[in-house]
Amino acid sequence: MKKIILLFIFSFLLINCKDVVKKEKTTGLITQKAMVVSARIEASKIGSEILKNGGNAFDAMAATDLALAVAYPFAGNLGGGGFMVYRKADGEIGALDYREKAPLAADRDMYLDNEGNVVKEKSTLGAMAVGVPGTLAGIFTAHKKFGTMPMSEILKPVIALAKRGVVVTKKQEDRIKNYQALFLKANKDSIPLSKKWKENDTIKYPALAETLIRIQQNGVDEFYKGETAKKMVSFIQANGGIITLEDLAKYEARWRTPVTFKYDNLKIISMSPPSSGGVALAQIMKAIEPYDLDQFGHNSTKSIQVITEAERRAYADRSFFLGDPDFVTIPQQELISKEYATKRMADFSFEKATKSADVSHGNIEIVESDETTHYSIVDQFGNAVSVTTTLNGAYGSKLYSPELGFFFNNEMDDFSSKPGVPNMFGLIGAKANEIHPEKRMLSSMTPTIVEKNGKLFMVVGTPGGSTIITSVLQTILNVHEYKMGMQEAVNAARFHHQWLPDVVKMEPKSFDKQAISELKDLGYTIDETTSRIIGKVSAILVLPNASLEGGADKRGDDTAVGF
Ligand code: GLY
Repeated sequence: MKKIILLFIFSFLLINCKDVVKKEKTTGLITQKAMVVSARIEASKIGSEILKNGGNAFDAMAATDLALAVAYPFAGNLGGGGFMVYRKADGEIGALDYREKAPLAADRDMYLDNEGNVVKEKSTLGAMAVGVPGTLAGIFTAHKKFGTMPMSEILKPVIALAKRGVVVTKKQEDRIKNYQALFLKANKDSIPLSKKWKENDTIKYPALAETLIRIQQNGVDEFYKGETAKKMVSFIQANGGIITLEDLAKYEARWRTPVTFKYDNLKIISMSPPSSGGVALAQIMKAIEPYDLDQFGHNSTKSIQVITEAERRAYADRSFFLGDPDFVTIPQQELISKEYATKRMADFSFEKATKSADVSHGNIEIVESDETTHYSIVDQFGNAVSVTTTLNGAYGSKLYSPELGFFFNNEMDDFSSKPGVPNMFGLIGAKANEIHPEKRMLSSMTPTIVEKNGKLFMVVGTPGGSTIITSVLQTILNVHEYKMGMQEAVNAARFHHQWLPDVVKMEPKSFDKQAISELKDLGYTIDETTSRIIGKVSAILVLPNASLEGGADKRGDDTAVGF
């Protein structure tokens, strides 16, 4: 008997010991006051140092964003755009849109040939793909309203990083190699990233440092009206593009009202159009709210079913309704209402998958690049900033100015190049997102902040093109419904459905075999094999004792830094 009792105690200790080890492994960085989580350690460190030196989250935003332009040229940028959602310590919330715009000379059919077919690569590669960049305007606009440190100070460590150089990681080595053929195709000559860079090499960015120094000296006008603007325009035009000095001079970031909605005792604050992120996230969460996801279990058949069906319906609406709110009227309040969610889910049954073909609206597949980047910041004063920024594709249009030291976006590809084709219901898909001069192209970027019982709870976002929305969703659900910590929630396997193609993409070898087989039996098409990773989430969770837990995605080089 004694032996049995001892064995029982030993097994109990072993199980609990294992639990502790497991917990330690899956807990992210914990800090007491402040944190920055971004795609590169260099950027997180620079942002965190700004905070340590007394700057606030908006000062750290400028530093982190520009440091990513140096350390992570894959998506960090001067030549792109982005969205920021903030929540100040006093509860004030807001959003900033610094999305790229179509140039004045753009027109609806600019990517079509004489037969009306889309010309391959015209909206993705080279100068014609470039939208008017918004990043510098965004950073300076946010800083002007809320920043406390001089921009010249904020830029110092970023310029030093560009001069000192950035060490190549293994993932970066692979990325650079993957795109070198396209660098050659888009540029007249080889560019610095055309070299055979290897892990642990240091890449210096002297031309970018010079551009940043001019911005440090002359402010944001340097980029939109000054020497940099002139160099940019002559370079883009010499490569066949249509952006003019007038386009740059007219560019302005816009303050927007974020999308807000309730989910249980959470208040979600997310990006409004021209990003589809907040609206789609709201539609999905309102549709799944009545179901007992926590009872169904994480990544169980039933949870995957409910989430997939909600995603299917929200993505169908996205293609039809959403575009730049300065150009199209969006029935936003109706789309995110509980009543609409109930109506939309009325034909859902646990017995059988809905077919996307039976779901209105639109008939346009969302083909989006997934090479964006996201960073989350909480400062020592309690302010929170959530930013997603992008060049669209990896290294954007691949067009790189050797003189200015940065890549240009290919964001024009986020417009619908061929709108106006009626679907089987006679509805005109994607007209809301057709090209128009000075219009902003629809995005999926979903920088998000979550309040719980009126207090800051989570800052979250990710790259991933159309999978951004569903990755942000799952990260929030993992914490709220499935009681995971921040790092655990970020690590957890993700799946994605976007209405068309009618396929549930799953991260390979990460899902329960029985759940997959049950889903197949119910009529779902599962794609585990060709799926790439789904999202690279950077997130921060406020723990019950007010300390912060970082969630830095192992799928990338993401790192949390704080104090
Ligand atoms: N270019 C990716 C997005 O805006 O969602």
